[in-house]
Parts: sequence; structure tokens; C-alpha cells
Amino acid sequence: MQLLSFLAISGVAGTAFARSAREAAYAKRNIAPPAPRYGYLSQPAVHAKRQEQTIIPQTEKTAKYVVNGTAGAIPEVNFDIGESYAGLMPINNASNETGELYFWFFPSANEQAGDEITIWLNGGPGCSSLEGFLQENGPISWQYGTPHPVYNPWNWVTLTNMVWVEQPVGTGFSQGEPKAQSTEDAAQEFAGFWKNFIDTFDLKDRKVYIAGESYAGKYIPYFADAFLQKNDSSYYDVKGVLIYDPSFASDTVLEDVPSLPFVERWDGLFNFNKTFMEDLRKRNNECGYTDYFNKYLTFPPVPGAMPEPPKSAEDDGCAIWEDIINAVFLTNPCFDVYQVATTCPLLWDVLGFPGSFGYIPPGETVYFNRTEVQKAINAPIGVWEECADGILEKDSSPQVTWDVLPRVIDALDRTVVVHGDLDFILLGNGTLMTIQNMTFGGVQGFQSEPCEEFFVPYHTDYSQESLSASGVMGKTHTERKLTWVEQALSGHMVPQYQPSSGYRQLEFLLGRIDSLTSTEPFTTAPGSAAKNSTSVSKRAVGAMPQFGDKKKWY
Ligand SMILES: *[C@@H]1O[C@H](CO)[C@@H](O)[C@H](O)[C@H]1NC(C)=O
Ligand SMILES: *[C@@H]1O[C@H](CO)[C@@H](O)[C@H](O)[C@H]1NC(C)=O
Ligand SMILES: *[C@@H]1O[C@H](CO)[C@@H](O)[C@H](O)[C@H]1NC(C)=O
Ligand SMILES: *[C@@H]1O[C@H](CO)[C@@H](O)[C@H](O)[C@H]1NC(C)=O
Ligand SMILES: *[C@@H]1O[C@H](CO)[C@@H](O)[C@H](O)[C@H]1NC(C)=O
Ligand SMILES: *[C@@H]1O[C@H](CO)[C@@H](O)[C@H](O)[C@H]1NC(C)=O
Ligand SMILES: *[C@@H]1O[C@H](CO)[C@@H](O)[C@H](O)[C@H]1NC(C)=O
Ligand SMILES: *[C@@H]1O[C@H](CO)[C@@H](O)[C@H](O)[C@H]1NC(C)=O
Ligand SMILES: *[C@@H]1O[C@H](CO)[C@@H](O)[C@H](O)[C@H]1NC(C)=O
Repeated sequence: MQLLSFLAISGVAGTAFARSAREAAYAKRNIAPPAPRYGYLSQPAVHAKRQEQTIIPQTEKTAKYVVNGTAGAIPEVNFDIGESYAGLMPINNASNETGELYFWFFPSANEQAGDEITIWLNGGPGCSSLEGFLQENGPISWQYGTPHPVYNPWNWVTLTNMVWVEQPVGTGFSQGEPKAQSTEDAAQEFAGFWKNFIDTFDLKDRKVYIAGESYAGKYIPYFADAFLQKNDSSYYDVKGVLIYDPSFASDTVLEDVPSLPFVERWDGLFNFNKTFMEDLRKRNNECGYTDYFNKYLTFPPVPGAMPEPPKSAEDDGCAIWEDIINAVFLTNPCFDVYQVATTCPLLWDVLGFPGSFGYIPPGETVYFNRTEVQKAINAPIGVWEECADGILEKDSSPQVTWDVLPRVIDALDRTVVVHGDLDFILLGNGTLMTIQNMTFGGVQGFQSEPCEEFFVPYHTDYSQESLSASGVMGKTHTERKLTWVEQALSGHMVPQYQPSSGYRQLEFLLGRIDSLTSTEPFTTAPGSAAKNSTSVSKRAVGAMPQFGDKKKWY
């Protein structure tokens, strides 16, 4: 997720910033939060019971990776997480190779998942995919400000076989000297790791899907392209990719150009004074950003290559995005660049990164930095940090949208790009402009403006610890195998802020539903995929949360 360059730009690294809790709004007025029709489960969710037989056949090769998923085996996790495998896997077989990537693999009990495997990657570059695991789409969820981890019924293992991988070398628990100088280098590391992974768990001839966010918007198209070039369907049969809030273009296009329209759209969340806004508008015009935005964010697109914007943050008065950030910390010291609908207080984050900057309260520890946690998940004992410096700081690979991504879109069944509406580290309108400059399926850009409704089925929530939205949750559009979603009410990390939307998007990626406009129920009620699960039955779909006749307190 995190783009660390931001720390350097802002010069206020280490300052504490936070996000507000959903519950706070209710608590203040003593209004009961929306309750599912059938009431909340009184106990935290119990989920898939451990199967008698493992999904993955046990061999000598798999033995060293087995994770004891019994309740209590992993520190603070007081529920069974089912069958999983984790540890280090070499990036190639050379006897002098020291590079190894850390992974955590969860086979799925979902009967439709038999011939699939889905990879999850976070960005950075240098940020750990265990962040996605613990706070976005894994079975264990430990969110900002909450006292302990809880079961995540929206976890993607409910739908398919999932592996979270820390890469490239140098990221998270991965071992060896960081050598990748380009995303292409990282793709070669990953492809070697992948072959070893497939052979270890006997997963040949699977349909491969790759999902991730942020800088993984650069990794994923290059990795998919490298897989396609292998022309070896027993290992590398990639079928689809799902990319959240991607690093698809220069910072000028993704940040500076679309910043002022963003501030105007969400003006109450920035709360700037008139003088500042007038100055911003004036400079935005002078830097040529206003004309550029109006000209190139059009449907169908302006034919031909979109030039670089006339100015950039390097030019005097044209660092519009950075100026906005610096100003907003006056009006909202807890401003979260990853989710702008956030105010003080600053919340504790068990991974040490609850908002715009790293923060860990005195006396608290970072979860994956704890020795007993590392032992429980076959990780090397040592320092773990969510985002590491020194990884791909100069990435020589060209922007993916120029060449690689169009080729990948044409080759795959589905390419899904989703961008959260409240993300200010990378801006959705910048992504859309970039798509308008991209030729895929032989035609440039989308021919019409995205306006179809992205629908998330109504559902009964599983527990108060995992409430998630339903109904129309944004706009979507598909042309020539590329699907776009403007995701409502979400920051940068979509499966964290909108887990039910992320779950639906995965169903679409896997081809379990035909369209994101579909109003069909979820294919598998969240949390209930396990074969013959005794603990969770399919829940009623279509039950709207109701206030009912709850007493109001003023
Ligand atoms: C798995 O963890 C549980 C809970 O800590 C423990 O009782 C059990 O002995 C462990 N199993 C193995 C095989 O280590
Ligand atoms: C291993 O040895 C080969 C051949 O000598 C060399 O090309 C390669 O760079 C070495 N790899 C590492 C990781 O040192
Ligand atoms: C490394 O060797 C193992 C055992 O022969 C093999 O299964 C695996 O595919 C090899 N890995 C690579 C990256 O070639
Ligand atoms: C891909 O592999 C198939 C079968 O192994 C072969 O027939 C085909 O020529 C290969 N295509 C390319 C582009 O290498
Ligand atoms: C994105 O651009 C459109 C104009 O094309 C504008 O109406 C909308 O408010 C912008 N959204 C954001 C979040 O900036
Ligand atoms: C208006 O906002 C700017 C940017 O935050 C700030 O520098 C300036 O002092 C503010 N003016 C007033 C009158 O508060
Ligand atoms: C991580 O653990 C090491 C000791 O293993 C400690 O020195 C370091 O301060 C820890 N970092 C954080 C952020 O907790
Ligand atoms: C637009 O696309 C063309 C062709 O791929 C590319 O050369 C150009 O750099 C792109 N423009 C921007 C601003 O990325
Ligand atoms: C589920 O349980 C039934 C009855 O015990 C059994 O016949 C069936 O094969 C089981 N299904 C799976 C997928 O394990």
C-alpha cells in the first residue's frame, strides 16, 4: 500500500496521525448501530471447522510449511483458521542463491476453487502483503483501534485458494539481498518462486489469478506478462487480474492534475479557507492542469497519445498535491492520505501504520515483529516492518499502461481495475485519464463514460466485528475485457474499507458472476464456504439491516 516517497516529501515523518472509528459516530449520540434483521451473534463468529482430511496432500515437501491453525496456536488468534502453509521459498534453484520469498497459503474448501489459485500482492514498493492479509482480505482481521484479531467472514479463502506473498526480495520476511532494479527483475524472481511453490504443493494446471493494490498495479501486469511469455500452462496459466488503486502513471497524472477537482468534490473534508482555494485555483490554471484535466478526461478519448502534463511538481507553484497535503494537516492533523474521510483521534495500529505515517504507541508492539508470532507462522526470527526502504527505489521498467497492460488485457479473460473514491495517495480520476490514453482490444480508451451501477448483494451481517455495505457501491463499466469500478466509500485499501465489495469483485474476477452490475446473491455466503461446515450455515441473503423499533437516545 504505502508510497514511502510521501514521507520524504512531507518532511513530517514520525508525526502521529490517525483514522476515526465507525462506531464513534454512533457512540457519541448513543444511537444503536444498524442491526441485522436477525440480531447480532452474541459470540464472535466461529467459522469453518477443521476438516478431517486436509485439502493439500501431506508430503515431505509440505511438512515444513504446515501452520498449526488451531485456536490459540497463533498468538492472540482465539479461533481456528483452518488449514494453511507458510514459510520461505527460494526464487530459483541456483546453489549460490540466497533470495527467498515469504508466503502464507490457504487452500479453500470451496468446491468451485478446485482448479484455481489466486495471488495477493501489496505495493510500496517494499510493502508487505501481510498487511493485506491482516487488514484487507485474509481470514484473520485486526483493524486499527480494535483490541484483538477477529475472524473475517469476507476473507477470500471462502471463495478460492489464496496465497499472500511478500516480494520482491527485501520486503517483509523475505530473505536475501534486494537486487531487483526493475519490475521485470521482480517478475523473474517471482516466476522462479512460483514454480517452486507450485511443485511443493502439487498445484500444477491451475488457473492463476493475480490481485493486489497500489504499486502492485505495476507488479501485476509485468508478472502476468512474464507468466504469459513462459507459455507453460502447467505453472503459469494466468487467466485474470484484479488491481486496486494502481500506480499506472506518473505522479503528475495520478496526483497533481486531478487534485483540485478532488478537493472540490470533497470540500467539507478539507475545509480550506477562501484565500487558499482561490490561490490553488489560480495556480492550477497557470500550471495548465485545469485544461489538461478537462481535455483528457473525456469519453470517447481525444485520439492519439496524451502528452505529459505541461508542468509538474518540479515547477514553481505547480506542486498542487503536496501543497494540499501540507495545508490539510493544519485543518485536520489526523488527515489520512489513504482515506480522506478520517479525523482525529489517531488510532493504534497493530502493524504500526494507521494513516499517513507510521505510529506505534509506547509499549505496544508490531504484530509480525513478535518472535512468538514469527515462530507460529514459520517466519524467520527477526525484524519485520510493514514497508521497507531500499526496494526498487529506481524502477527502470516503463509505465505499464503504455505497452504491457494492453497486451495483458488482450490475452486474459478479465482485467478488473478498481479505484476507491476517498483515496488521495493515488487518485481515481488520474487512473481513468490513464485508461483513456491506453489502446487495448485495438481501440483507445473507453468509448462511453462509466455509469453502470456496481451492486453488492444484500446480506445479513455475520457479526458486529465485520459489518460491510450492500446495495449500489459505485460505478462500473466494461469494454473489451477491461472492467473499471469507481468504488464508493473506500480509501486506498478497498478490501479493508469495503470488504463486501472486494469479495464481490473477486467473484467477478473468478468468473463466478457475469457482471458487477449483477443483483444475484453472493455465490457463497461469506464465511460459509467450508464443505459440510458444521459451525456456519448459509445466511439469509436479502435481509436489510433495520433500525426497527430500537430506542433512540438523544
Ligand atoms: C496446535 O496448537 C494447539 C493450541 O495451541 C495445541 O494444543 C496443539 O498441540 C498444536 N498441535 C500441534 C501438532 O503442534
Ligand atoms: C550465482 O552464480 C552465477 C554463476 O556464477 C552468477 O551468474 C549469479 O549471479 C550468482 N548468483 C548469486 C545470487 O550470487
Ligand atoms: C527446482 O527444483 C525442483 C526439484 O527438482 C523443481 O521441482 C522446481 O521446479 C525447480 N525450480 C525452478 C525454479 O526451476
Ligand atoms: C507454446 O507452447 C506450445 C505447446 O507447448 C507450442 O506449440 C507453441 O508453439 C508455443 N508458443 C510460443 C509462442 O512459444
Ligand atoms: C472526477 O472527475 C469528474 C469530472 O469528470 C468530476 O465530476 C468528479 O467530481 C471527479 N471526482 C473526484 C473524486 O475528483
Ligand atoms: C488559509 O489557509 C492557508 C493554508 O492552510 C494558511 O496558510 C493561511 O494562513 C490560512 N489563512 C487564514 C486567514 O487562516
Ligand atoms: C521489532 O523487533 C526488534 C527486536 O527484534 C526491535 O528492536 C524493534 O524495535 C521492533 N520494532 C518495532 C517497530 O516494534
Ligand atoms: C499515453 O500513451 C502513449 C502511448 O502508450 C505514451 O507514449 C504516453 O507517454 C502516454 N501519456 C502519458 C501522459 O502517460
Ligand atoms: C458432506 O456430507 C455428506 C453427508 O455426510 C456427504 O455425503 C458428502 O459427501 C459431504 N460432502 C463433501 C463435499 O464433503
